[in-house]
Amino acid sequence: MCGIVGYVGNKDVIPILLEGLHSLEYRGYDSSGIAIHEGKNLSVIKSAGKISKLEELLLKSRNGNGKYCGIGHTRWATHGEPTDNNAHPHFDSDEKIAVVHNGIIRNYLEVKDSLIKKGIKFASDTDTEVIVQLVSSCFKETGSILSAIRQAVVMLEGSYALGIIFKDEPGKIYGVRKESPLVIGVGETENYLASDSPALSQFVDRIIRLGDGEIVELSKEKIELYNFDGKKINKQAQPVEKSKDIMDKKGYKHYLAKEISEQAEVVLHLLNDYLPSPKKSVKLDCLNFSKDFLDNIDRILILACGTAYHAGLVGKHVIENITAKPVEVQLASEFLNTKALLTKKSLVIGISQSGETADTIAAVKKALDTGATLLGITNRPDSALADLAKDHLIISHAGLEVSVCATKTFIAQMTVLYLFALYVAESLGKEDKKIFLLKQELRMVPQLIDQTITRGERYQEQVLKYADKPDFVFIGRGINYPIALEAALKLKELSYIHASGYAAGEMKHGPIAVLDPDVPVVSIVVPGDAYDRVFQNSIEAKARQAPMIAVAVDGDKKVESVFNTVLHIPPIIEILSPFLTVIPMQFLAYYIAEHLGCDIDQPRNLAKSVTVE
Ligand code: G6P
Repeated sequence: MCGIVGYVGNKDVIPILLEGLHSLEYRGYDSSGIAIHEGKNLSVIKSAGKISKLEELLLKSRNGNGKYCGIGHTRWATHGEPTDNNAHPHFDSDEKIAVVHNGIIRNYLEVKDSLIKKGIKFASDTDTEVIVQLVSSCFKETGSILSAIRQAVVMLEGSYALGIIFKDEPGKIYGVRKESPLVIGVGETENYLASDSPALSQFVDRIIRLGDGEIVELSKEKIELYNFDGKKINKQAQPVEKSKDIMDKKGYKHYLAKEISEQAEVVLHLLNDYLPSPKKSVKLDCLNFSKDFLDNIDRILILACGTAYHAGLVGKHVIENITAKPVEVQLASEFLNTKALLTKKSLVIGISQSGETADTIAAVKKALDTGATLLGITNRPDSALADLAKDHLIISHAGLEVSVCATKTFIAQMTVLYLFALYVAESLGKEDKKIFLLKQELRMVPQLIDQTITRGERYQEQVLKYADKPDFVFIGRGINYPIALEAALKLKELSYIHASGYAAGEMKHGPIAVLDPDVPVVSIVVPGDAYDRVFQNSIEAKARQAPMIAVAVDGDKKVESVFNTVLHIPPIIEILSPFLTVIPMQFLAYYIAEHLGCDIDQPRNLAKSVTVE
């Protein structure tokens, strides 16, 4: 899986490829590499590690002049360790063809076996090398590059976006797409290829999205499109969405810290757009639901992965609470293995920060096949999810999130879900006092988030006492159970410390066995329906000698008397408390990880958007 970029034109290719790769680094940063035409040669330069490693290598070995055509790749390892050898581009044995790939070839072992039987020797452990060796083998039979690609793709099962470059065709790049996204950037006497359009928006004004089962032949003057049957196709270019976001740490040590600090602003922005006053109804003009549809919804199913899934779990509580519509939340990857029991009356909500997560996209497509209606929530207007959810789409407007670990986009997703719940309730005529009060309190949230964030340094002092602990348990109930899950995820992602989030009531059914003085328990114990029970479950944990940390509201003497450490937040009503309880959890993970010297913005083994199932 990974990010692909390609360029053919009159400019020096190396800086363009590197810039494109930097924009695609969110898709993985295990290794990177490029393949370029250099005179009569086709050269591959690649390295394990971040793109900066490749840059160092290129500085030593190359100047950019005189190279006008090439492809590049940034990798998140699926098959084979993140080594130089497994880095893309991959050559065929004759070093005449180089390929970059995003996706997974499911039958790669079978294809590899058949190629080995023909005497072909493999140099890497990747599924990608199978593609290039297969194209090369087909080329030897057909003598035509395009035919070779067409023959090869018929034999490949799985998902792939490919960039292919041939030694004997300088000035040409081939792109192939099945499932994994691939976009062509249309320029004047130059053309581009990339895994997503934001990577191209700095270079071109127009793009063409390659469809499933399509091949493109790019030269600097021409864009020729074919389907897998070899039939020529015509497609109109469309304008590319230009992003105003600039990458800037604004004086913070890490993007993560900057993004945590932006959370009040993010919520305020969304509220100003969609709920400027509690006296008015929520205004979501981006939705086109009829009252009849909303009235008759039989089931709401939220599909998402990772942090977006946790936002979905919070959303379930809110939507059920104020609309009385049943909501289920499923991990997108799990939904793919279930019967999709949906009808035309079902509403599916796909949530994805990037809008490109392969599991979420596949799950949403499966849901759409049942005739269900889709609402998309994403931070990226120019993404696969936004494309699928054209009729009902809410952009979460969190701005660019650079840190792999999601923070402000989580809070933005939650805000959108609260607004959506209010929108449904109001559309159904539930404009009662409860709704008005919730809107009033929601308008106060940005201020409260701000106050919580200013406590960051205090949290730092408090949590560093626990930085040497090898294991953490986070517990919560009801609307704060998802925050316990999110807190554990943040700590794992950032610090590599093992952490689990549990529904507090489940502790006694097994997890309590892991507790001892080396396993801190972090309880989210804020006033509301869940308070007494979480408190009780915390006492049970304390009895097993676990160090006890609480997230509690200011002035909670009962909590202060029992817990070793209390991470205080300003008082807030339970239904809105996730907006605040998550903040000390983000700081806890951040400060412990920083103390341990971890790579905060690009933790090992992760990618911001996982574009393989
Ligand atoms: C990756 C990221 C997570 C993210 C998840 C879903 O695993 O590392 O931070 O929550 O993907 O991403 P999405 O873009 O679909 O929200």
